[in-house]
Amino acid sequence: MTTFNILLLGSGGREHAFAWKLAQSKRCSKLFIAPGNAGTSTHGQNVPINPLDFPAVAQFVLDNQINMVVVGPEEPLVRGIWDHFQANEKLKNIPFIGPSKAGAVLEGSKAWSKKFMQRHKIPTAGYQEFTADTLEAGLEYLKNHTLPIVLKADGLAAGKGVVICQSHAEALEEMREMLSGKFGDASARVVVEEFLSGIEFSVFVLTDGKTYKILPEAKDYKRIGEGDTGPNTGGMGAVSPVPFVDETMWEKVESRIIRPTVEGLRKEKIPYKGFIFFGFIEVGGEPMIIEYNCRMGDPETEVVLPRLKNDLVTLFENCAKGTLGRVKIRSDKRTATTVFLVSGGYPGDYAKGKLITGLEKVKDGIAFHAGTTLSKDGHCVTNGGRVIALTSLGKDIPSALRKSNRNAKTVQFEGKYFRRDIGKDLL
Ligand code: AMP
Ligand code: GLY
Repeated sequence: MTTFNILLLGSGGREHAFAWKLAQSKRCSKLFIAPGNAGTSTHGQNVPINPLDFPAVAQFVLDNQINMVVVGPEEPLVRGIWDHFQANEKLKNIPFIGPSKAGAVLEGSKAWSKKFMQRHKIPTAGYQEFTADTLEAGLEYLKNHTLPIVLKADGLAAGKGVVICQSHAEALEEMREMLSGKFGDASARVVVEEFLSGIEFSVFVLTDGKTYKILPEAKDYKRIGEGDTGPNTGGMGAVSPVPFVDETMWEKVESRIIRPTVEGLRKEKIPYKGFIFFGFIEVGGEPMIIEYNCRMGDPETEVVLPRLKNDLVTLFENCAKGTLGRVKIRSDKRTATTVFLVSGGYPGDYAKGKLITGLEKVKDGIAFHAGTTLSKDGHCVTNGGRVIALTSLGKDIPSALRKSNRNAKTVQFEGKYFRRDIGKDLL
């Protein structure tokens, strides 16, 4: 049995969930997380390396006989960490979970991904793209557009690059701001998209570039307030499975969107061994894709992995070897919910360094850490807006949510806030 010394890159709740699942495998001999958080350090060793410092990551891999690399977040992928490894004879054959730069562009450029969808006839909203050079044409285009209007910065904008404008005046102003550098280079190009109305859900696929395996689907809750009100956040909670995604919907999602996407990557000879996150919206019974991401979702990973029964190391090994076709995905039939505890003030300004207590009292569930760190005297303290995700399993949404919410009350820190209504819209 081959065992693996694994290096996992990232520091959020998604990475804690990965670390938790990888560490359960008998095939994981050592686990390092760069840079990790207070939670990941309970499953492996955190190492203070920035995932964007590719030479430092590569050196660590060589020095520590790492034989599997797993990339959590999108930014290193979009900037080409896979390509950096491929360029080095000593690194190129190490199993690596994450696409090439050419594949990560599915997330890294919304304009590119829209063209890809069109080339492969994948159902999505109509769009146009504009740059500073075509600003005047863009403004004219907006004036005749039906409301609301969706404006998207082309590049990575830390989840803030999508603005839904309710009036023409707002859209004109937003386009001017984006094209004059509101999100830096990320908004040098702007995609104007038709607004789609419906329920959203996310599907995750692991592909080895030839075939793919579908993981449990999930729905996340982005707004800060109960009843989906207030500003967007990185995600306040998630649920898996999503009850309205029935057999018929799965069939459409797979045949019209997932399969053409993986086939499209293959036909275009784009190296891709890793996750594809499909953001869907159901419009009148038909699935449309609103976005691709080149990684797992956060907080969706915190409900997807607890339902996944497969050994994650073996799954990744098959992905890297190109033998995913052999694998059968097995998932727990129960429902998983996760509820995020966030810092007071988030998604605006918030304090850090608040002492977190009650973690040892969490029962019937898992506390996945996101924005946490260990203080100098070894206490677990807050270190971000989204702090801890409390995941539980139950026979249905209410029973899982009762446990998540109970644990959400038990864990304490000054300024703590959480939504109590995760998944309730699905009942
Ligand atoms: P993204 O950053 O691409 O995940 O988009 C953020 C959110 O904007 C999505 O989760 C949707 O809620 C919303 N969104 C994006 N595109 C559209 C669209 N064409 N119509 C309606 N809502 C959209
Ligand atoms: N939960 C949405 C994302 O990870 O982008």
